[in-house]
Amino acid sequence: MRLASLLLFGSCSVLFGASPVVPALRPLATAAGLNFGVATSAGVVRTDAAYRETLLAYANTIVAENDLKFGPLSPRPGFYDFSRADALVDFAAEHGLKVRGHVLVWHHQLPDWLKAAHYTAEQARELMRVHIFTVMGRYRGKIFQWDVVNEAVTNASRAPLRQSFWLETIGPEYIALAFRYAHEADPQAKLFYNDYGAEDLSPKSDAVYKLVRDLKQQGVPINGVGLQCHFDVAAPPNLEAVAANLQRLADLGLELAVTEFDARLHLPASAANLEKQATLEHDLLAVVLRQPACRTFMVWGLTDARSWVPNFYRGYGAALPFDAMLAPKPALYGLERALRQAPPVVSGTGSARPTR
Ligand code: XIL
Repeated sequence: MRLASLLLFGSCSVLFGASPVVPALRPLATAAGLNFGVATSAGVVRTDAAYRETLLAYANTIVAENDLKFGPLSPRPGFYDFSRADALVDFAAEHGLKVRGHVLVWHHQLPDWLKAAHYTAEQARELMRVHIFTVMGRYRGKIFQWDVVNEAVTNASRAPLRQSFWLETIGPEYIALAFRYAHEADPQAKLFYNDYGAEDLSPKSDAVYKLVRDLKQQGVPINGVGLQCHFDVAAPPNLEAVAANLQRLADLGLELAVTEFDARLHLPASAANLEKQATLEHDLLAVVLRQPACRTFMVWGLTDARSWVPNFYRGYGAALPFDAMLAPKPALYGLERALRQAPPVVSGTGSARPTR
């Protein structure tokens, strides 16, 4: 019912309002030296022309929302179905988009066959190695940045590592091992640790900081940290603390990325809340643009019609820059404003330009 009324409301605004001029953020983001884009899927990119056009005006980079996850990729032991991931990577190549890889080692969306079986530590290590080599090897040179390990840290400081198939079978060294395998599989790819709820200064972001600092000190080939940034507009993070967190991670010699930004609202979304959302979108992007080590800014979907938010946060939605009818929201203009105010790109430094 709610979705139906949202759709109706959305269509009315298109039918009766002046049709909005949609700013093309892609050239602005590229000029600002940013990998800037959305999570998407082969299904929608293949079938929905309006979506495709909107995406191509917005993004210079895409990430697979689900198509590169272990479970969706591997329905049977030793068997991979790359059809959706290939379609997405081909779409990117056709349109000059960069591709972020998400995700190699995670506790969630694992194949059912893997969860059903019992593995020794040695078998699980081999399984992880083969998975990383199979997937990264296939897209070597085509995926510039990978989330190698996702969400390994918990919110509880007494037990900082999350229980997972990988921790239980291999032990805490699974994290370093995953990065070493990933570096062997594609030495050119930038390798990221990715997590949520570790954006500003908190016990969890301290735990992530310590984890990646220790990995660096041990000579593990990690290049960066991804901050997911799934935010609630009613309880936004402290953006000064986000900037401070980015800086302490950058001081370790790491790159940063905003990997899965969305800004959810209680439904139905009020005009006032859509404005608050726009302010948050502007302000977060402005923080990123001031941090030379953070050159990637991805939102977790393009349109409210396809966001994961309503399924995972009851009563919430409207978290993305385009509404369910693909009309731009104040949030989109917030991002546009931030891009137009971007500090000039210093040429020749390398750091201020999108990296391979
Ligand atoms: C989500 C997808 O958006 C959903 O479609 C899927 O059902 C579950 O996963 N953190 C992550 C992402 O790292 O992979 C998750 O994506 C959202 C939270």
